[in-house]
Amino acid sequence: MAFELPPLPYAQDALEPHISANTLSFHYGKHHNTYVVNLNNLLGDNAGKTQEDLESVIKSAAGDSSKVGVFNNAAQVWNHTFYWNCMKPNGGGAPTGELADKINAAFGSFDKFKEEFTQACITAFGSGWGWLVLEDGKLKITKTIGADTPLAHGQKALLTCDVWEHAYYLDYQNLRPKYVETFLNELVNWDFVASQL
Ligand code: FE2
Repeated sequence: MAFELPPLPYAQDALEPHISANTLSFHYGKHHNTYVVNLNNLLGDNAGKTQEDLESVIKSAAGDSSKVGVFNNAAQVWNHTFYWNCMKPNGGGAPTGELADKINAAFGSFDKFKEEFTQACITAFGSGWGWLVLEDGKLKITKTIGADTPLAHGQKALLTCDVWEHAYYLDYQNLRPKYVETFLNELVNWDFVASQL
């Protein structure tokens, strides 16, 4: 039993012009795939197969200094699969219903949420992730560095933006704020985010 690279939820050119097929061919086809291959190599016959297996690998390796490689690769497999689902062609706009109400209650307004989420994404130093999470029933914006993931901190992920340079450098070079702005305005799949509540 080995983990497999999950299919992308859309074609590799589906997010153009905002994220190019070239970026997705490297980011999904090379980077995400390599995390899957590395994880299976590290775990051998005990690799597991399902999303539940992957989450239990992440939780059991979190904070264990002898399992840093397993944690990093498993978390990156999970984070990337989640990130692909957080986007769709013709995404963006604003959430509705219960999610919109919760965002307004937690951050004051959707614009304030966008400001705070953007700030988390652009201040994650080096390689990392910006997140909207649910913690103790409340919405919260966080950032993680490297492979770190909300699953390892008792939080439920609702939305993420990958801010490793490999996510945007081919399309935006060093302009991370422009990539994050485009992610929010043109790409976020709010139906998926709402389904995670
Ligand atoms: Fe990535």
